Amino acid sequence: MKFELRNVTRRFGDHIAVNAVSVEIPQGQMVGVIGRSGAGKSTLLRMINRLQEPSSGSIRFGDLEVSALKGAGLRNWQRDCAMIFQQFNLVPRLDVMTNVMLGRLNHRSTIMSLLNIFSDDERMAAIAALERLGIEQTAMQRAGTLSGGQQQRVAIARALMQAPKMLLADEPIASLDPLNAKIVMDALRDINEREGITVITNLHTLDTARAYCERIIGMAGGRVVFDGTPSQLNAQAVSEIYGSDRDGAGIDETMTSTSINNPVAPVAAGKQSAGMGSLASARA
Ligand SMILES: Nc1ncnc2c1ncn2[C@@H]1O[C@H](COP(=O)(O)OP(=O)(O)O)[C@@H](O)[C@H]1O
Ligand SMILES: [Mg+2]
Repeated sequence: MKFELRNVTRRFGDHIAVNAVSVEIPQGQMVGVIGRSGAGKSTLLRMINRLQEPSSGSIRFGDLEVSALKGAGLRNWQRDCAMIFQQFNLVPRLDVMTNVMLGRLNHRSTIMSLLNIFSDDERMAAIAALERLGIEQTAMQRAGTLSGGQQQRVAIARALMQAPKMLLADEPIASLDPLNAKIVMDALRDINEREGITVITNLHTLDTARAYCERIIGMAGGRVVFDGTPSQLNAQAVSEIYGSDRDGAGIDETMTSTSINNPVAPVAAGKQSAGMGSLASARA
């Protein structure tokens, strides 16, 4: 199923945050969106999931006109494109299991949700998702007591419970130390490869985008100024995205680097490779 943005623009007053963006993303791609702070990355992602309304333009998923959805259709769409955030957005006072099961909310009747009744299948799926992220031992802890890296893994487990078609991540590793950043990026890649879920992730660092994403979209001033593979992202493209103080001067990549120095090379893992807690069980 093809996902497509056509001429998508978002204004805030006189300011154009996202300017006539058109991109097509085939199902199953892992896409990194890079650019300076203020380039429009978050606004773009938030429009995809309809947390923010486009001022104009069209967002389509297959035959579905996302930008026109309302009511139940909109809720279904928001379930289909799960989102994770830099600040995790868990409910800190609730335990990890409950946070993860909240990913099922849009699948369930309101009354069941209000009564906090989860089925055994839902509990099993939540445990499987936590096992897959390697944090099942935290299931009964309050989410707010976990480390940032653990909280982001809980957020990913919650996203998996939505059985999404697309996973949107807004700077998912910006608050994490290098080890946890790697764990989280590896988890996103694993989900992309095993389930074929499209991942679109904003990243503030180039090297992470290069290491993990098959496609990189560079934004500057609300526009897409680069769209290609990591190997096409040469020094000139980088300076178009990030700008440079002196004319023609390249940008030092270390400026835009995290310390994930040593990411495991992309594995040609089969999408059906055996492993615990696949999304199949999360869907059970
Ligand atoms: N809710 C808002 N109200 C007004 N201006 C906004 C709002 N959200 C974003 N902007 C502006 O839009 C531009 C793009 O912001 P954003 O999408 O957050 O960029 P990025 O995620 O790349 O840092 C910035 O100039 C920002 O100040
Ligand atoms: Mg942002």
